[in-house]
Amino acid sequence: MAHEKSAVLLKAKLGKAMSINNIVILTGAGISAESGLSTFRDNDGLWEKHRVEDVATPEAFKRDPELVYRFYNMRRQALKDVSPNPAHTALAKLEKIHNGSVTIVTQNVDNLHEQAGSEAVIHMHGELNKGRCTGCSGVFAWHLDMDETTPCPTCEQSGGLRPHIVWFGEMPLFMAEIDSILSEADLFMSIGTSGNVYPAADFVAQINALGRAKTVELNLEPSEGNHMFEESHFGPAAKLVPSYVESILKGEAL
Ligand code: OAD
Repeated sequence: MAHEKSAVLLKAKLGKAMSINNIVILTGAGISAESGLSTFRDNDGLWEKHRVEDVATPEAFKRDPELVYRFYNMRRQALKDVSPNPAHTALAKLEKIHNGSVTIVTQNVDNLHEQAGSEAVIHMHGELNKGRCTGCSGVFAWHLDMDETTPCPTCEQSGGLRPHIVWFGEMPLFMAEIDSILSEADLFMSIGTSGNVYPAADFVAQINALGRAKTVELNLEPSEGNHMFEESHFGPAAKLVPSYVESILKGEAL
């Protein structure tokens, strides 16, 4: 058949795509856990040590900017000591070898997908290594600490910098682009996310409503929305993801 080298044949299912061209992968904190970054809701997770209301809302930033800067400075610093694990590397390999598109939509604010070599990465919750100026709306690479006195590298005004992070109550980034990518997916994988935070937690329902893509969850344990996935595999991402990627590349992911 005239399929490209690694496009994977799908079982003919009523209304479903016949081959896997477009792969969309939603990732969450679980994919970076084995690199040494804390998840949010597991035992000892970030939200057990810090209250969301204190560090991850616009109100918190208004009330106590110093605490919020410190929280994100600490997390930005922590990125310097971590590297991608085999799960990140396998997804980068998939993007390189698969003949269709492979897009990662990540809730993670770390840069481990990029470090592993993935290029099509959408950070819907922002990025620790970027800053934003509330004065001039500039968004720029940022690898140092920041505080209330740090001048904006674009407009040079102090007092307006904030981490380029989507806080609770704010709109996630790139939603129109994500909606369009989801609508064209033939395979949707969700990796290392608890399914607690919307709109990401709703992607699988959105995909199911279109009836086009196969949906697979790879996670340590069943997520909140596990019943909505066609297939699931449970275990550590660094083990599960490379083996699932191999099965896609061999045409056995069905
Ligand atoms: P959570 O901490 O809510 O969930 C992490 C998931 O990863 C859980 O289901 C764990 O079982 C699973 N997990 C842990 N270790 C794993 C491993 N080694 N391999 C595979 N899975 C593992 O993190 P997220 O779902 O990413 O948002 O959280 C979503 C959003 O909530 C975050 O982006 C953040 C947070 O509040 C904002 O800050 C806006």
